[in-house]
Amino acid sequence: MRGIFFGSAVAAVSAAAALALVCGACSSSSTDSAAPSDGTNTTSGGPPRATAPSGSIPCTVDKILAEDCRSCHSASPQFGASMPLITLADLYAPAKSDPSKKVYELIPARVANDASPMPPPPNARLSDADRQTLTSWVSGGAQPSNETCGNTTPPTPFDPSVNCKPDLSIGPASAWSLPAATGEDYVCYGVELKKDSPTHVTGFVPRIDNKTVVHHIVLFESDSPEPATPKSCSPGGSLQWRMVMAWAPGGKGLELPPEAGFPIKPEGTHWVVQMHYSNAQGLADQKDSSGFDICTSPPRQYEADVLAFGTQKFTIPAGAANWPRECSIKVPSQLAGTHLVAAMPHMHKLGVRMSTIRKPADASAPVDLGTINNWSFDSQAWLPATTTLAANDVITTTCTWTNTTGAPVDYGEKTTEEMCYSFTLYYPKVPNIGGLPVWSWAAPAMLSTCK
Ligand code: HEC
Repeated sequence: MRGIFFGSAVAAVSAAAALALVCGACSSSSTDSAAPSDGTNTTSGGPPRATAPSGSIPCTVDKILAEDCRSCHSASPQFGASMPLITLADLYAPAKSDPSKKVYELIPARVANDASPMPPPPNARLSDADRQTLTSWVSGGAQPSNETCGNTTPPTPFDPSVNCKPDLSIGPASAWSLPAATGEDYVCYGVELKKDSPTHVTGFVPRIDNKTVVHHIVLFESDSPEPATPKSCSPGGSLQWRMVMAWAPGGKGLELPPEAGFPIKPEGTHWVVQMHYSNAQGLADQKDSSGFDICTSPPRQYEADVLAFGTQKFTIPAGAANWPRECSIKVPSQLAGTHLVAAMPHMHKLGVRMSTIRKPADASAPVDLGTINNWSFDSQAWLPATTTLAANDVITTTCTWTNTTGAPVDYGEKTTEEMCYSFTLYYPKVPNIGGLPVWSWAAPAMLSTCK
């Protein structure tokens, strides 16, 4: 069976470029030591467990862990996190990625790590004060405390809901069973969308089935149908697909403004859901059927579409650190009056930071169309970027890379090549004149000039 819907068929989006999503920032381990979550020191094989001193976590530290870490590092860890961060014993347990170290010893480095920070994006970084509190406690030897902290704030559950009411759920034809070994897993399945009457898709909410192992989820549009039964994604498979929606824990759902929607193609639309799993704890019997809940409606006034600012013209010199490429395009009259809704900056693994700015032609204040200062390949998501373009505005995208590969790196679709696209959701869709494809989503990036 090809394509599955629970509910009526629906459909889709026209989005943007070819992308490959590979875990760039993950560093989950392949050791099999188990962290105690209950404060006991029973052993079950693997390296000997460190014995935690008696006492508790100081309240200042506990508060930070409660508010910023336990949404994932809960008693049974969620979203691919490798261990709980609840008790002092959890913090004194051997780390998964390096059992010669205790969990607490890894904390200062990870909260300060711009390439692979904790908490991971799109969650906000810790404040300097909170980072300092954790770091000084660790450098003082992670001393136990006798304080009673009272009720710690329960972590705020991730809420990707949107205002529209989803009326269609997409999911796999069957659940995916994860291997019991620790590690990363990329799994893909196809979804076929077709409607008898004209329909727009107006909102997307990730539906996460197994919160223990889901690390992130991406929705693509494909030119041809893909099997509805989940299977390991073929390497480079997503290169032919266009990204529609991406979510990582802490991210939001995507909803279009009331006057715009993505039309379902009359011949049907092919979607592919790509699941990224992280079974950092090496758990057995983990199954998952995550997908998306979708809002649909009768056609709205405007068709939405995705275009890309940025550039395809660059070669990052070997060994270059923080190497910027700044590319601008003057808004042509065809795009005047276009409303921008959201932006998804996109580079590959060498990216450091990226920003897109609109400088209005009337010299009013510049508008941020999506800036990410700590780029992480593994946590791509839509950012709000609301503005209306006028003719002769200048849109400037700056991509910055650090090339650690020892060879020059060009633009390209492979993950070993680089990209500099700011996918931007907009409406009304630029029409094709006389049925000819004079407009392409990549046109703004292809026509930009760089310095
Ligand atoms: C959105 C979920 C999420 C939040 C919130 C989060 N983490 Fe993590 N954490 C993970 C995942 C997933 C991993 C495993 C993959 C990795 O190492 O990047 C991890 C791994 C770690 C590791 C490495 C463990 C090892 O064995 O190498 C440390 C240390 C860590 N987290 C500390 C923290 C701290 C401290 C906070 C809060 C300030 C925090 N995390 C918040 C998801 C999260």
